[in-house]
Amino acid sequence: MSQSLVTMSYIVATILFIFSLSGLSNQETARKGNYYGMLGMAIAIVATALSASVTSYVILIIALLIGGAIGARAALKVEMTQMPELVAIMHSLVGMAAVLVGYANFMDSSLSLSGVEKNIHEIEIYIGILIGAVTFSGSVVAFGKLSERISGKPLLLPGRHWLNLGLLVAAIFLGRLFLQQTETGGGTLPLLLMTVIALAFGVHMVMAIGGADMPVVVSMLNSYSGWAAAATGFMLSNDLLIVTGALVGSSGAILSYIMCRAMNRNFISVIAGGFGTGSGGEAAVVEGEVQPIDADETAQLLLAAKNIVIIPGYGMAVAQAQHTVNEITKLLRDKGKKVGFGIHPVAGRMPGHMNVLLAEAKVPYDIVYEMDEINEDWARVDVSIVIGANDIVNPSALDDPNSPIAGMPVLECWKGGTTIVLKRSMASGYAGVGNPLFVQENTRMLFGDANATMQAVLKALKG
Ligand code: TAP
Repeated sequence: MSQSLVTMSYIVATILFIFSLSGLSNQETARKGNYYGMLGMAIAIVATALSASVTSYVILIIALLIGGAIGARAALKVEMTQMPELVAIMHSLVGMAAVLVGYANFMDSSLSLSGVEKNIHEIEIYIGILIGAVTFSGSVVAFGKLSERISGKPLLLPGRHWLNLGLLVAAIFLGRLFLQQTETGGGTLPLLLMTVIALAFGVHMVMAIGGADMPVVVSMLNSYSGWAAAATGFMLSNDLLIVTGALVGSSGAILSYIMCRAMNRNFISVIAGGFGTGSGGEAAVVEGEVQPIDADETAQLLLAAKNIVIIPGYGMAVAQAQHTVNEITKLLRDKGKKVGFGIHPVAGRMPGHMNVLLAEAKVPYDIVYEMDEINEDWARVDVSIVIGANDIVNPSALDDPNSPIAGMPVLECWKGGTTIVLKRSMASGYAGVGNPLFVQENTRMLFGDANATMQAVLKALKG
């Protein structure tokens, strides 16, 4: 394929990626956005495979087959609830690719650059490996935390901010040393030392994040993986990779900012670590009597209500209860009830998790509301049903300054009529804190797997 045709294909792929991002920003156009992304990626792969930069088709085909097989297997096998872990581990691969490409470039003796060009190329290598290594180790730890292989509790080393600052200063110093030594054909040692430091920084940064602040880390690593891809693009002189990496990097950064705003967190404080640990005091212990309820009583409460709000959380995803929830919603709406869904920005385990599940079950978009819209309306709500949610409806976020989730806005369902909470036990949620909502005067607990209990409620409603 001629170079001009490759460039043309790259421009078309870039435009498709931009359409894809714009499509993904809205539920109604998200499907189309996905198609644009797939088409753009297919064009990018074919154009790159047919470009003059490919010298061995055997290696390329073997790599495509191995990568494709692993990707297809992961996509077929992964449960919806494991999606965030999969995304985290995918980010780590982008980071690892940036590190490997960086070292390959560093060792490539066929390049004969000189003067400023040589310096720029070396800076690209250094920064590419730095971002790649932080992304790699940070994403591996995020994977561990999301899959609960590593404890969600923050690791707070003494003087951790100084440690981070020290690592940063060391990385800058080694960068200078690297540039000096490459003048005489060296540079391996500072590059290796910096890689170790960057890997340690990635681990420390994510280990220090606790409580409910993981969503910010996930979107931040998403952003880092974009910048790592852009750095790889610079090293390989591949314009498409630079543009695509920058698109992912900047959209991830915007998402992190939105997440921080939604959680009332300061972006810098979250990255510096130690957030989600409260103000240092002991979080209040939840005391009081739980009032259980059964499916028949729940159905009666729903039939007597006019205005109902459903709050889905991670447990709905685990139980795969969204289809039953949709059937109940249809039935109640047919009976003339007003039913709405309240979506917390960090409900579940990934951005938009609940919206995806509800869209899959074909819940109409126009009855799905954001947290702020719902929070203005509780006085008019007769019954709210909390389906497998915990942290996002925890009043201690507002009244307990020592709580690990202190300051995070929540869905204030206790301000409405009766709240029915569906979960299997009194266990805490992701942030690991007790929830005083469960013992409030107007709260009823419907214990059991959310899908099984919702099925029983549906049966009672029909009966
Ligand atoms: P959580 O606070 O994690 O609570 C989920 C609840 O669901 C648990 O208390 C669990 O209680 C219940 N549950 C689990 N399986 C169930 C089943 N089969 N049937 C019924 N209930 C079940 O979830 P949330 O309220 O959605 O809050 C999300 C949390 O995850 C926040 O802390 C958030 O910061 C964090 N997080 C979010 C993201 C993103 S981007 N959304 C990423 C990482 C972390 P039982 O065990 O008693 O059933």
